[in-house]
Amino acid sequence: MRKPVIAGNWKMYKLIGDAVSTALALRPLVSNANHCEIVIAPPFTALKVVADRLEGSNIQVAGQDCATETKHGAHTGEIAANMLLDAGATHVIIGHSERRQHYCESDTFVQRKIQAAVATGLTAIMCVGESLAQREAGTAESVVKGQLNGGLRGLTATDLNRIMIAYEPVWAIGTGRTATPDQAQEMHSFVRGIFNEKFGGEASERLRILYGGSVKPDNIASLMTAPDIDGALVGGASLDAESFAGIVHYNG
Ligand code: 13P
Repeated sequence: MRKPVIAGNWKMYKLIGDAVSTALALRPLVSNANHCEIVIAPPFTALKVVADRLEGSNIQVAGQDCATETKHGAHTGEIAANMLLDAGATHVIIGHSERRQHYCESDTFVQRKIQAAVATGLTAIMCVGESLAQREAGTAESVVKGQLNGGLRGLTATDLNRIMIAYEPVWAIGTGRTATPDQAQEMHSFVRGIFNEKFGGEASERLRILYGGSVKPDNIASLMTAPDIDGALVGGASLDAESFAGIVHYNG
């Protein structure tokens, strides 16, 4: 059985004070949730203090990105994977569509960041997903397949223990237009099939595939009934502790 993962991506929201108060409000609301793993990704500036304040809880902390380079050096503005680890992160989101779209992040970059993350001991949450135009053109699967082939190049069987995929169709992010459970299931099953071809049945059965895109407390339960949906990567609805706790407690 795959343990579900409910992850919150805070994106470029929250100053340190607000990040800490949200994390502290969330902590007791989810302390009895042992049916899933819980991860939150604060902005870099709040990561260390949030991780410190969540120590001993069942909430893990993620970075929202990391550098392609692993060795310290002259890389102005970059944060290395081992710096995230040092600050208390256990996970890192890589290849979010907002980075691919607005910061020119290519599959090659995504691949190097994944290598950096897993080599450092972080779990990489690799994001894939098609745009509306690509879906309407009937190329959604080939786009996602290309992202997976590009991003996962060079991974070993052991590295796979440190990889999760988040399927986030761009048209569903921040739009209120959630993919239906059937639409998401179809792509998740396709992603698992690619893992099966690339890495074998055992690795593909273990892989957690999260859905992201307008996940809310009132639609999570139906998404989670789909057999290949193993959790969610939540944006807007993760910014409020009660709303995110409502998603964590999707099972009632
Ligand atoms: P929303 O939940 O706000 O649609 O964002 C999804 C997302 O991009 C999570 O990474």
